[in-house]
Order: sequence, then C-alpha cells, then structure tokens
Amino acid sequence: MTFPKKLTIAIDGPAASGKSTTARLLAKKLGYVYIDTGAMYRAITLAVLQSGADPSHKEESEKIAAKSLIELKIINGTQQTFLDGIDVSSQIRSPQIDKAVSEIATNAAIRKLMVRQQQRLAENGGIVMDGRDIGTVVLPTADLKIFMNASIEARALRRLKDQSGQGLSLEEIKKDIERRDHIDSTRKDGPLKKAADARELDNSSLSIDEQVEIIFKWAKEVAQI
Ligand code: DC
Repeated sequence: MTFPKKLTIAIDGPAASGKSTTARLLAKKLGYVYIDTGAMYRAITLAVLQSGADPSHKEESEKIAAKSLIELKIINGTQQTFLDGIDVSSQIRSPQIDKAVSEIATNAAIRKLMVRQQQRLAENGGIVMDGRDIGTVVLPTADLKIFMNASIEARALRRLKDQSGQGLSLEEIKKDIERRDHIDSTRKDGPLKKAADARELDNSSLSIDEQVEIIFKWAKEVAQI
C-alpha cells in the first residue's frame, strides 16, 4: 500500500525504546522510506575506530567523519548501512560501537554534518526518520512527531532478547543503556529531548504491531484521511 500523502514523520526516544523496529515497520506500511539516523552515527564511530583514532579526540574524529561516505540502501526490503562502499550493517551493532558511539554523538561538528545529510534525505517527504534530535533539530517542522519511551526494565529485556547485548547480563545491559541515555540527554548539542509538539508513546506493555497501529492512526489523523 502507498499512503496517499507524503508526510514527514519524526520518531525520537532513548536507547532500546523500540524506535527502529517500529519506524521500519511503519515506513513499510505507509510505503515510505525509513531512515535510521543512529546507524549514521554508528558508521562514523566505526570509521574513527578503524582508523585507530580516539573518539574523544574531537578534531581528528571530525576530519574522519568529513571524508567518510555513508549510504543507507534498501536491499531485499531492509536498510543496510554502507561506509565508503562497504556494507557495515552488522559491524555497527557490536558492543565496541555501542560503547564509543555516544562520544562521537556529542561532537558538535559531526552532528552538523549528519543533520545536514539527514535534512537532505528528508527533502521530498514520504519518510519516517528515527533518532534523538529529529523532532527538535533535524525536522522541526515534521508533520508528525513521536517521542517513544519504555521503562528501563522493558528496554533492557528487549536488548537481552534480541542478542545485541552479546553475552552481557541483564544488569550490565541496564547500566549500558542508562549510561548512554545520560550522555545522550545531557549533551549540549541536539540532546535527546521530547519536542514540545511531539506525541508521547510509552510502549512498555505494547507489542510492536500495536505501536505501529497507533502511529498509523495518528498519521491518518494528521493527513486528514
Ligand atoms: O539509536 P541508536 O542506538 O542506534 O543510536 C546510536 C547512538 O547515536 C546513540 O548513542 C545516540 C546517537 N544518536 C544521536 O545522537 N542522534 C541521532 N539522531 C541518532 C542517534
């Protein structure tokens, strides 16, 4: 199905709040393009680590980011992330990247580069974009803004189940999520924050299908269909 209007939908929320899965399925249901902006910060982090640079070294990281080419391609219906022409979709989900990505995401110069690319990708509408600063910074005039959240327990359990914790205990996963939320919401530039006009969706006890259905209804409401 193709939704009759090309809306711009922004979904923000903390780590492991189920944004990406929901955003991806919602985009599919609407016939829209899905853009996972977290994957872009992850790919830059990989580029920095691969070059042997220290992610906390701001100028060096920025230089690497400026010369890295990140592409998001849809292959067999799923988004794959390419760094300088190489598919890094699995590599960017490793615990090493989880650990270093928040540091890269606090780099104001890198954020500027990413925001510009993201705005360009969203130019024609018909997109669902997820991240931390989409409703506040990247697409402040989005047609529909959603701030997704869930309890720390629900989020840690999900991460444990989908194996991206890779051998970590529930307690360790919880700590890592809390650490990242803290860095993401206290940084000066584009912090994780609910936009004033965003609709809040707590999905602690909702299934993915239920979440998609709720947002789909909101999209219809906004599009007046
Ligand atoms: O959504 P994720 O876990 O893949 O995001 C990875 C990191 O990137 C996370 O620490 C927050 C950061 N990020 C950001 O700062 N701004 C965005 N728009 C998306 C992600």
